[in-house]
Amino acid sequence: MSSFEKKNGVLHAEGVSLRDIAAKTGTPTYVYSSAHIKGQLQALQGAMSAALPADRQPLLCYACKANSNLAVLSLLRGQGSGLEIVSEGELARGLRAGFDPAKIVSTGVGKQRSEIAACLNAGIAQLNVESLPELLHIQEIAAEIGKTARVVFRLNPNVSGGGHDKISTGQKHHKFGLNEAQVFEGFKMAQSMSHVEAMGLSIHIGSQVFTVDSFETAFGKLPGIVKDLRAQGHDISRLDIGGGFPIQYKDEKLLDLDAYARWVRDIILPLETQIIMEPGRYLVGNAGVLLTEVLYAKETPDRNFLIVDAAMNDLMRPALYGSYHAIEPVQNHDAPEKIYDVAGPVCESSDIFAKDRTLPEMKTGDLAVIRSAGAYGFSMASNYNTRALPAEVLVEGERWAIIRKRQSLEEILGADIAPEWV
Ligand SMILES: Cc1ncc(COP(=O)(O)O)c(C=O)c1O
Repeated sequence: MSSFEKKNGVLHAEGVSLRDIAAKTGTPTYVYSSAHIKGQLQALQGAMSAALPADRQPLLCYACKANSNLAVLSLLRGQGSGLEIVSEGELARGLRAGFDPAKIVSTGVGKQRSEIAACLNAGIAQLNVESLPELLHIQEIAAEIGKTARVVFRLNPNVSGGGHDKISTGQKHHKFGLNEAQVFEGFKMAQSMSHVEAMGLSIHIGSQVFTVDSFETAFGKLPGIVKDLRAQGHDISRLDIGGGFPIQYKDEKLLDLDAYARWVRDIILPLETQIIMEPGRYLVGNAGVLLTEVLYAKETPDRNFLIVDAAMNDLMRPALYGSYHAIEPVQNHDAPEKIYDVAGPVCESSDIFAKDRTLPEMKTGDLAVIRSAGAYGFSMASNYNTRALPAEVLVEGERWAIIRKRQSLEEILGADIAPEWV
């Protein structure tokens, strides 16, 4: 059920007219639905609590790279979520949003020294180690600051997973994780480290994973590896089974969450560890739209372009992955249809949100939404073409708030420094 529906011919976010939001904030603006975010978290929690005993529920750590606005983080924290972070910046956001460090996990293939130190100083739950040189760094830094680093090793299972080559992470040619032999090596190294406590394993195979089969294949060797590690005397008390839960952008057949939860019960639960999961896109993807205004309906002998004021710098996914996003006018849904290419103003041919899309006819000043934009939308936005970062709005029922102001040009220009010798 979408939280973006028409009421009296005008598209609303929950109880709020998108026309009203555009009138007050301008466009382009990301608009998020609190009800949708809460509903998704509850659906995941519900599937897990139906399948697993109350005392073995997983810790859900929201992968905040999907959408790291502090209001979104606070909302999810309030619903009991933990957090997965990939940088010192995301750690700072998590702490600012009030997450208990014991519910924060840090992943990432290139953790910098300052990031490792910040994680250790904050006392987060664990660092997911992605290389053996990183493990050495962690030991060194932990010893320097007198902390014990809790780590798990990220296993690269060498299977394909994820709905698109660029969002798959679990094959041997990918930069992510360690192969099996390196995982064993990592545990051995950690045994002799004074400031590292190796606690388990993590696996994340990619995003948009549609079938339980894909998880089954990726995690196939896990029970054997856990058994062998234990036989070597290692204490395996945590398994972080990653994210990847899909959302519908178009007509994709979604993962059966109950079947997934039963798979967790049958395969992961018997391994007798704490279970951690890292959902990102699933919680926020369809909770957001990018609200935009038509600048020009431009006709050429070949194409009808709708040039809108949002661009690839605001929402990068179509240019980056060729991804599909539904597009819809905010009003006048019954206008005669026309076939459009929907494009932004940026000077790149890849600045196209949709090609050959049948839409009700639109003109200058009309509003439209680009759907499914809540995940990897704003968080990937840039200042390309010296375009200001868009505003963000959160809706709850009949009320709404700007949760990030549109960036001013002064904020962008003010960061540049021209030395006096130029
Ligand atoms: C380590 C890790 N965990 C979790 C996620 C979240 O993935 P998704 O948004 O598909 O749930 C990602 C995404 O890149 C990731 O790299």
